[in-house]
Amino acid sequence: MRIIRRRGWEIAESQVTPESAVLNRRSLLGGSAALLAAAPGLAHAEPNAKYAPGRALTEEKYATTYNNYYEFSDSKNLWRQAQGMKTSPWTIEFAGMVKQPRKIAFEDLLKQVSVEERIYRHRCVEAWAMTVPWTGFPMAELLRIAEPLASAKYLAFETGQDKAMVGLNEPMYPWPFIDGLAIDEAANELAFITTGMYGKPLPPQNGAPLRVTTPWKYGFKQVKAVVKVTFTETQPRCFWHDILPNEYGFWANVNPAVSHPRWSQADERLLGVDETVPTQIYNGYGDFVASLYSNRKSEKLFM
Ligand code: MTE
Repeated sequence: MRIIRRRGWEIAESQVTPESAVLNRRSLLGGSAALLAAAPGLAHAEPNAKYAPGRALTEEKYATTYNNYYEFSDSKNLWRQAQGMKTSPWTIEFAGMVKQPRKIAFEDLLKQVSVEERIYRHRCVEAWAMTVPWTGFPMAELLRIAEPLASAKYLAFETGQDKAMVGLNEPMYPWPFIDGLAIDEAANELAFITTGMYGKPLPPQNGAPLRVTTPWKYGFKQVKAVVKVTFTETQPRCFWHDILPNEYGFWANVNPAVSHPRWSQADERLLGVDETVPTQIYNGYGDFVASLYSNRKSEKLFM
């Protein structure tokens, strides 16, 4: 007997989306990344809780209007302001411990990867959560293109700065926004570079044109509008850790049993619906990522 075990992130589209929308999106995803970017009008169906395995998609209007992006504001209502950001042309720099430091245009990067869709749960340390159909490519492909040296152990992602980002005038924050991962985390199959959501290119407020998506970690690790990736031998500095080292650690894996000083992490509020559900360790993705930490037990893995 052949047993096919569905892995946690593979929430079947057919379980959350009517078939017509699935087929539509499939044909689109089958095309090139350029096609994906050129076809922003693809409709996305409402989440259908009846077919969803445990959790429905968050409605697009909530995921795109309740945001964290301190470069614009410390309020959640920044999406209008973010429309003023220039996200094209866009260049990404590979720096530090790489075979050849260089810059690459976003379109050229897209030509070297295959774009796919992943439906992931997203958990913010502020105890809200959403479930989003992201499009993008595995972070392992970014590693392949960047060509880090074998001695590199970490990588840091840096957010670009734009005139529309009025929050950058706030001197109490250590701009630019930077956060990082260990190389083996970045190579894990769940780690994703996101370029779209709900079948459309990413909107500015969610991190256009490309952002980090690591669903087993709290959202503050998921750097938006990446302009630079620096490979290092030692743990990079991270924006929130710099500001409040006792509240935000480097690893920041989701764990309901480890409270943040200001928020219990036991439960999470689902955006757009009046519902609170229990939080799961590694945000429910332990089968894929727990082994990354078996040799790191002495570290502060959970906040
Ligand atoms: N990236 C940058 N550059 N600036 C930020 O303030 N906030 C982080 C993360 N990435 C942030 C960022 C936090 S705290 C979260 S929860 C997610 O973005 C929120 O992503 P969303 O707005 O798409 O929901």
